[in-house]
Amino acid sequence: MAGTVAAVVVAAGRGERAGGDVPKQYRSIAGEPMVRPTLRAFLAHRQVDYVQPVINSADERLYGAATAGLGRLLPAVAGGATRQASVRAGLEALAPRAPDLVLIHDAARPFLTDALIDRAITAGFAAGAAVPGIAVADTIKAIDEAAHVAETLDRNRLRSVQTPQAFSFKLILDAHRRAAAARLENFTDDAALAEWAGQPVSVFEGDPGNVKVTTNEDFARAEIARLAALSDVRMGNGFDVHAFTDGDHIMLGGIRVPHTRGVMGHSDADVALHALVDAILGALADGDIGQHFPPSDPQWKGAASDRFLSFACERVRARNGMIAHLDVTIVCETPRVSPHRDAMRARIAAIADISVARVAVKATTSEKLGFAGRGEGILAMATATIRLPWSAT
Ligand code: CTP
Ligand code: MG
Repeated sequence: MAGTVAAVVVAAGRGERAGGDVPKQYRSIAGEPMVRPTLRAFLAHRQVDYVQPVINSADERLYGAATAGLGRLLPAVAGGATRQASVRAGLEALAPRAPDLVLIHDAARPFLTDALIDRAITAGFAAGAAVPGIAVADTIKAIDEAAHVAETLDRNRLRSVQTPQAFSFKLILDAHRRAAAARLENFTDDAALAEWAGQPVSVFEGDPGNVKVTTNEDFARAEIARLAALSDVRMGNGFDVHAFTDGDHIMLGGIRVPHTRGVMGHSDADVALHALVDAILGALADGDIGQHFPPSDPQWKGAASDRFLSFACERVRARNGMIAHLDVTIVCETPRVSPHRDAMRARIAAIADISVARVAVKATTSEKLGFAGRGEGILAMATATIRLPWSAT
């Protein structure tokens, strides 16, 4: 049951039912544009070889911002006027790679889990066409034009169907091509196309959490669901010291601060950013800055510390987590930090890709006591609060 696996993620819709200033897939849920966790779920899955996004060509800028730093995505292709046309564009883009199996998924379902992708791949390889379904809790009735009940359907035989839907790539590409040639354009999911092509479609266990975000109300519910899932709240602390030396400025909080001295260090010696990096790594229980960026490694000589901070933030996002808060205290007699405080907060927020309201920068002297008090060096202490999906370990 091996073979190459691709995922097509369709994100070319206009999100008319949801309304809002931007198409729904670019609207934020718990601090991230919806399409980002959707794509990341496939990128993070060990069996998925290719991830093919399909977007609306009007959204290129939004898409670029939403996916910055995600890595290994295939270049996005333009979708069409219907979901069906968008899926076909994604399949055609994958055709030269000819994967064995393709998972077709809506960008508007950002809560899919690794376990659901596992089930889709297993069922797809076993059956050639497989969709996730969940039992319906309500009794479903078919109605006539006068809104009278025409029929009460047997609930036990009904399934509410989601994505990702898994297909043999050849089979579904062929079905899409044939449907397009026959000008049949109103299939609402890919399973319907496979059925039309005569392929039996099997149903595997879906996931009630894998909801499609369709309306404005769905956004409010999705936000609550996401935050509830991120219930593993962790804090980490970080500390850093650098000695002053000759110079005319220091890097502090990502900002160049003019000063009568410089700071000694292998990288740009930004104590505030270094303390924050260690705080985030501490919250992740993932080593420290020296372990990830050894001072003995010449590539970090003079390196701008933004890179260390964005690396640490990416480690949080790679675990499907979010950074809830960053707080740093800088201790020195001079330079005065307060004139630069807001610029530092803005810079740190930009590097960490969080709102400036989630970044605090504080400063104090040490009352002329100790090395900081004597002006021999500068130190910073930081606390990071992160939220990760709950796990038993
Ligand atoms: N989609 C697409 N191309 C289209 C229409 C839809 O790629 N021409 C995608 C959407 O971006 C979404 C998925 O198909 O990820 C499911 O569609 P839906 O939830 O209906 O999204 P929209 O069509 O954007 O929303 P609406 O119908 O409310 O306008
Ligand atoms: Mg639609």
